[in-house]
Amino acid sequence: MIPLSAPFPLNRPRRLRREGWIRELVAETRLTPEDLIWPMFVCDGDNQRAPVGSMPGVDRLSVDLAVEAARQAADLGIPCVALFPYTDESKKTPEAEEAWNPDNLVNTATRAIKAAVPDLGVMLDVALDPYNADGHDGLVRDGVIVNDESLMALEKQALAQAEAGADILGPSDMMDGRVGVIRQALESHDFQDTIIMSYAAKYASAFYGPFRDAVGATGALKGDKKTYQMDARNASEALREVSIDLAEGADMVMVKPGLPYLDICTSVKREFGVPTFAYQVSGEYAMIEAAAANGWVDGDKVAMESLAAFKRAGCDGILTYFAPRIAPLL
Ligand code: PBG
Repeated sequence: MIPLSAPFPLNRPRRLRREGWIRELVAETRLTPEDLIWPMFVCDGDNQRAPVGSMPGVDRLSVDLAVEAARQAADLGIPCVALFPYTDESKKTPEAEEAWNPDNLVNTATRAIKAAVPDLGVMLDVALDPYNADGHDGLVRDGVIVNDESLMALEKQALAQAEAGADILGPSDMMDGRVGVIRQALESHDFQDTIIMSYAAKYASAFYGPFRDAVGATGALKGDKKTYQMDARNASEALREVSIDLAEGADMVMVKPGLPYLDICTSVKREFGVPTFAYQVSGEYAMIEAAAANGWVDGDKVAMESLAAFKRAGCDGILTYFAPRIAPLL
């Protein structure tokens, strides 16, 4: 639909851009702290803060400091944090058992955060990669990532996370059938209110590099994730993935990575009209930070513009490492 417009000079689009107040009045979308989910990395120890080399400004935090950061999130009006573990090498096994340890890092951090800041949402990733000796999101048998056996492990992981008090589970593993298995397990264990935000359209992306560094999976990963994560060249397939996850019981869906996949965000929102989120991933963050550190771009402005782009594309919210930096500017 192209709106009717008078020809120049009767119509001058610049009239609506002349001053700040009129630009505010006609702005089509708004970015607020309430749109943001803050992903954090949790590590062992007490009062520990370790910078992630490839993500300047992002630190791994011990549980006590993660609780402090969660308080900061609540004060900034950020509704939810997402926790990822930096798992010690000694706890990584071929069966990834640490994933369903009730006292693993993310479960411990979730309990601590929910006790200290009960009104803040906590989201946890359902995937085996931080715990798997092979660095894969599913179990590996003779070099093959096996689907159905992985589902049993993911189910155990999801139940331990719900038990710890996670409000949102984010299956990010891309095994077939995982949302249905997790949803049924939650229902039959009295976790009917646990929300599932599925990483529905998750692409096999080189933009995850710094994240794997942050969770200590870089050295571990054998091969790539192309047999389960999507091919960057595909768009219709993303709609099929979303429709499968919704049919299996997902409440919200996510597209990942973010900016290079805005077309997917727009079509998912348009086709399904469900809460749609984008993950502005580690590599996107790192690129902006690197350019800013060189003085080539204004980091805050580029971050803000990129986040506004997600809203414009139709997203309801964004997982972004910029959350604590940008929220105070909004
Ligand atoms: C694990 C997971 C990944 C990310 C979120 N959950 C990495 C991967 O799939 O390899 C990436 C997040 C980021 O790059 O910021 N399944």
